Amino acid sequence: MNRREFLRRGCLSVGMLALPPLWAQLSPDEKTGLRDEKPTQTGILKREIPNTREKLTAVGLGTWRHFDAEWSDYERLEMVIDVFRSEGGQVIDTSPMYGMAETVLGVLTGESNFFRAGKIFTTGENEGLEQFKLSLSRMRVRKLDLLQVHNLLDVRTHIKTLRRLKEEGRIRYLGLTHYQESVYGEMASLMREMKPDFIQISYNVRERAAEKELLPLAQQLKIAVLVNQPFGGGSLLPPGSLGEVPGFARELGCRSRAQALLKFVLSHEAVTCVLTGTGNSLHMKENMRAAHGDFPEEKDRERWARALVNF
Ligand SMILES: NC(=O)c1ccc[n+]([C@@H]2O[C@H](COP(=O)([O-])OP(=O)(O)OC[C@H]3O[C@@H](n4cnc5c(N)ncnc54)[C@H](OP(=O)(O)O)[C@@H]3O)[C@@H](O)[C@H]2O)c1
Repeated sequence: MNRREFLRRGCLSVGMLALPPLWAQLSPDEKTGLRDEKPTQTGILKREIPNTREKLTAVGLGTWRHFDAEWSDYERLEMVIDVFRSEGGQVIDTSPMYGMAETVLGVLTGESNFFRAGKIFTTGENEGLEQFKLSLSRMRVRKLDLLQVHNLLDVRTHIKTLRRLKEEGRIRYLGLTHYQESVYGEMASLMREMKPDFIQISYNVRERAAEKELLPLAQQLKIAVLVNQPFGGGSLLPPGSLGEVPGFARELGCRSRAQALLKFVLSHEAVTCVLTGTGNSLHMKENMRAAHGDFPEEKDRERWARALVNF
């Protein structure tokens, strides 16, 4: 039984018989978006994890909200994963905090070759370890590439667990995450003290506090950087604005506002990979294509940020 058949039977078994075929629910854009161009992986931007020099494709997939899904969403999300894979995507970020997301990923990706970034989001040593084991079983994998302390919750307890898991080979890298600029001072102290392999922070044309300390510090300490919320959680892409692309961004090949926002983030050299949250395969493809071509030069970054923050 192949995966599609498995999903179909899964849907049937939970009484989804009354639903129309899922393909029929897609917008014409989504259908065309999957058909129009051949996948390209040539020339895609990859960045090194500083302390190992392992290379990662610079655009990744986030699973908050969109992958906390019902059976009826699976076929649509499978297309997101298919596009992500065929466009050369590697990093998928998730968390036990994201409802069904780990389980959905387990069904849709199994043991296949992605760079899985999971999290611990609880308090207490035993609770953290048990949560990690549950994440593995939900994601249907034996180990994770990266395990992060989500929002620094009980970080001093979990960092010891993460170090042990890394020694045991059950994770390859360890990291710390947050999304609020008000916590970046604490994040900087922890980076100096704990020397994680990765940090994950918010960084976009509107939230640029990371430029002052965290991004230069990450370069100095050779810490890889995952960026979350490059679209401000979607608030930088309000309806009606998607086609608004400044001329200088069009010259660098941006066909949409989303691509311009991503190219701005990637133009900072400390950024290893930018995570884009989407449940739409056309958006996934558009986001992956932002990792191709040229990026704004240092001297042009202010102009890009100013133009893109105002719409
Ligand atoms: N503390 C933490 O560890 C933390 C905090 C926040 C986020 N994260 C991680 O970072 C990931 C990314 O952040 P996020 O999902 O909050 O925010 P985001 O990526 O900034 O924005 C997501 C929103 O943008 C829309 N979007 C994506 N691509 C688009 C495109 N090409 N065109 C138009 N709209 C597009 C999505 O809607 P559609 O579905 O319609 O595409 C969604 O509403 C999360 O999924 C999560 O994995 C981690």
